[in-house]
Amino acid sequence: MESENTSEMCAKEGRSLDTGKLREMVDLDRGLIDRRLFWDEPIYQLELERIFARTWLFVAHESQVSQPGDFLTTYMGEDGVIVARDRSGAVNVFLNSCPHRGNKVCFAEEGNRRRFTCNYHGWSFGNDGVLLGMPAEELYKSTCEEFDKSKLGLHRARVASYKGLIFATFNERAPELEEHLGDFRWYLDVLLDNDEGGTEFLGGNLKSIIRCNWKIPAENFTGDSYHAAWTHNSAAVGMMGLTVGKIDQERTYAANMNGHGWQFGMDMIGNAMGMAEQEVLDYLRSREADVAARLGKLRSRMVGAVSSANVFPNFSFLPGYNTFRTWQPQGPRQIQVQTWTLVNRNAPDSVKEKYRRGVARTFSPSGLFEMDDGENWENCTQTNAGFVTRKQKLHYGLGMNSEIEHDELKGNVHLRKYNDANQRAFYRQWLELMCAE
Ligand code: FES
Ligand code: FE
Repeated sequence: MESENTSEMCAKEGRSLDTGKLREMVDLDRGLIDRRLFWDEPIYQLELERIFARTWLFVAHESQVSQPGDFLTTYMGEDGVIVARDRSGAVNVFLNSCPHRGNKVCFAEEGNRRRFTCNYHGWSFGNDGVLLGMPAEELYKSTCEEFDKSKLGLHRARVASYKGLIFATFNERAPELEEHLGDFRWYLDVLLDNDEGGTEFLGGNLKSIIRCNWKIPAENFTGDSYHAAWTHNSAAVGMMGLTVGKIDQERTYAANMNGHGWQFGMDMIGNAMGMAEQEVLDYLRSREADVAARLGKLRSRMVGAVSSANVFPNFSFLPGYNTFRTWQPQGPRQIQVQTWTLVNRNAPDSVKEKYRRGVARTFSPSGLFEMDDGENWENCTQTNAGFVTRKQKLHYGLGMNSEIEHDELKGNVHLRKYNDANQRAFYRQWLELMCAE
């Protein structure tokens, strides 16, 4: 573990990385990126400050905290937080750290509670984060002039949600969530709003550790269709008897806005084929006309299409498989992956179960595709231990002039999924936040 002093020194060193140096590291005109982005502690400390403490982060699906008192614990950057629904029905997000001496106030991953009581001296907080009481409260009142219970609650974040997805930020000055998501909402609706009943996360949260920098999986999901046929072919053959083969680039796109990216085809149930579950395919086909009536013909073709997406900075998902995940940073060279399965609330139970098993089989700690990816991501990070290796640049130049005008698709639209356009857009957003004081 880094000592706090080291972290602070690194943050200071990170801040001294002037804007010019950062801009040299991320040369988007030539599609070249410096490897130190995936290795250096000062850069990472600056990311915690300027990205994770500055922008909206996904923290939970509303179905995970549906009842008053429901809560879960998670992370915003490396800040541990509690997401809790209070008696009034509002969802609150606050630091999981006691303002007395700093202990965690909740050690459970999820549950239902009226209050969170600190183990150390017994201060007790409501599920809105407010300090309710402590032992010897009278003594505080009589001996501490400035004692004000209302100022000693758990530090709260701003909270907003979009169609079931709850986001939070500690930045008072961040633009509204709607603005942050922008036109990406139009794409999110493909999964979040294709049925009148809305969506839910199935119970359970798979957690695993990968020894990689958090940006490597984020950029993989935002736009790396290019790796799929090569990396995942043997797993696809082993699991489904299918070869991924060369993916037809006709009518495939990469779209991005505000650093978020979605790359996709229009094959309707292409990705769901990966589930190799007839019941899921039948379910999707049976709904195509309804989805078209709701979202239009074009988006009805995207529901289960071969595609992947990332909401900047670290919240990714795969339509079709319906796996949703966050890449939680734990230093510059390690992440915790949190994985859930999203389903339509109105889907039959047997279809939900097929989705759950499909995610476990493909993109989970025991999933064959995740193992393929995890090994690559670890090596993409750990090779940078080499002093000479770290001095080389990485290539992000695929599809430099592929932007098109499209009548229906929103955002910056690029032709073909074999394209680094979404990755470049991801790093453009990264650079903008890192360079802003
Ligand atoms: Fe929490 Fe003292 S550290 S009550
Ligand atoms: Fe992959």
